[in-house]
Formats: sequence, structure tokens, C-alpha cells
Amino acid sequence: MNEELSHIHCFAPGNRREATPLLLLHGTGGDENDLLPLGEAIAPGAALLSPRGQVLEHGMPRFFRRLAEGVFDEDDVRRRANELADFVTEARKRYEIAAPIALGYSNGANVAAAMMLLRPEALAGGILLRAMVPLREAPVVDLGGKPVLIVSGQSDPIIPPSNSQRLATMLAKAGADVQHRTLPVDHQLSQADLAIAKEWLANVETTKSKTVAV
Ligand code: MLT
Repeated sequence: MNEELSHIHCFAPGNRREATPLLLLHGTGGDENDLLPLGEAIAPGAALLSPRGQVLEHGMPRFFRRLAEGVFDEDDVRRRANELADFVTEARKRYEIAAPIALGYSNGANVAAAMMLLRPEALAGGILLRAMVPLREAPVVDLGGKPVLIVSGQSDPIIPPSNSQRLATMLAKAGADVQHRTLPVDHQLSQADLAIAKEWLANVETTKSKTVAV
């Protein structure tokens, strides 16, 4: 645990400098340690930056305030997404890393989606596991082909399929290169999430290395 920057966080440098770093964003009630094993499994050797959400809901860390399940305090979403983007800027300087791809689960995926819409320069892309629309009105933004993977659960009791579909459309309209997959699961993560995210990221890295080589 590191308390020097604006957010309590973990940083694991990894041993593959060329791999895109991951920004790990936990779900409600999680912390900076939760997604480290998932990050290592999806991106072996990549640097992992993992902050803890700064909002407490009955003692459970989150990344922004909500009024009820699935009903967000959008002013707080904006404020916290901006603060998180500022943290990423600080951490990139401190650890000398490139812009990360966010790997977010549930509340962490929602704040990642908000960051993409509000501060697109902070992220190189996103893996959004069980994400929903974070802001009713999409800000005008150009995501310039940034890669985004959304993985939804067909029987997710928190996120109706129409909501994750709206998020995919919103990000695609803003210019992201969106892949949206729906699995026959609920809100919990499954092995299939891991396999899909790993394969998607490997493809993103291959495309990046080809672009750099040209
Ligand atoms: C949220 O509040 O971001 C979503 O309802 C997901 C959750 O954290 O349960």
C-alpha cells in the first residue's frame, strides 16, 4: 500500500516495459488489492496501478457516490472521475509509465467509463466488466479509436442488458473501437471474463506493436 499520491494505491512495476500498464479499478466494497491477481492473469508482466476508491458507503470503498443501486450522484461521478484522472497523471510521472488501459469491475468499470467520457487522455483504453452508463448525457468527446471491451452478464440483476448496450453505443458514438460481449452469467466475474479479456488485450497489443513497427 502506498499513501504518497492523492489515492491510496498499489503499484506493481511488472517486468515487461513494452506492455501497456493496467489501471485496476475495484468494485463496491473492494480495495487496491482485489484485482491484482486478475490483472496479472490478463496482462502477465505489465505494470499494475491499483487505487482505492475514496468514497465510503457504509464503510465500503467505492469510486463515486450513488443515491440508490444503479442511481448515481452525477455531480460526484464527474468530480471523482476527474480526481482519478489527476491521480493517473501523478502516478504516470512518479512511476514513469505510459497511459494505462483501465480494467474495471462493476463500480470500477463505471468510473472507468466516466473517465473515458470526461478525461479521454487519461486512458489508452478500457476493459469494462459489468459496466453501466455512468452519465445520462454523454459529454462531447473524441475517443479517437481507443479500444474498449465491455463484458456484460445476461442475467445480471443490477444491470439490464439495455443499459450496457446503451453504454456500448455511447462510447462507439464518441469514437471508441468497442467490442461488447454478453455472457450467460450474472454480476459475478467468471473464468470466461478472464479468457475474453486476455484474448482481447493480446489482440490490442499486437495491433499496437504493428502500428509502432510501421
Ligand atoms: C455502481 O454503483 O457503480 C453499480 O451499481 C455497481 C455496484 O457498485 O454495485
